[in-house]
Amino acid sequence: MDKLIKMAKENIVNSYSPYSKFAVSAVLELKNGDTYKGVNIENAAFGLSNCAERSALFAAYSNGIKKEDIKKIVIFTDHPYFVSPCGSCRQVMRELMEDDADIILVNNKNETKTIKNSELLPFGFSKKDL
Ligand code: THU
Repeated sequence: MDKLIKMAKENIVNSYSPYSKFAVSAVLELKNGDTYKGVNIENAAFGLSNCAERSALFAAYSNGIKKEDIKKIVIFTDHPYFVSPCGSCRQVMRELMEDDADIILVNNKNETKTIKNSELLPFGFSKKDL
């Protein structure tokens, strides 16, 4: 876990967040130990901005990774409080990660808060509804 937190902290410098100045870094860990990093990437057309969680997940899926390969995601922000994933990321994590995957929030006091993916989006929309 310490290794994942270190990776997330180091990679936050790659956040492209000139508009919000709110940098977020996420690291996915697979069951086989491999990792995928993501940061938030903003755009002058604000609606095109992408959160760190989705960046990491899309990077993994772009390389052939599937939900059953993923163990956990660590999300770091340089703030003393915990930053919880936005609604869009919850929707995407719900579909692209298993229900019992761990979502681990890390603040700049090195405190962690762990929640299960299934707890993040109660009564959510999913492909079962289609
Ligand atoms: N952001 C994330 O990357 N992840 C979250 O869970 C919450 C918000 C980003 C989006 C935007 O670039 C900035 O933080 C401010 O909303």
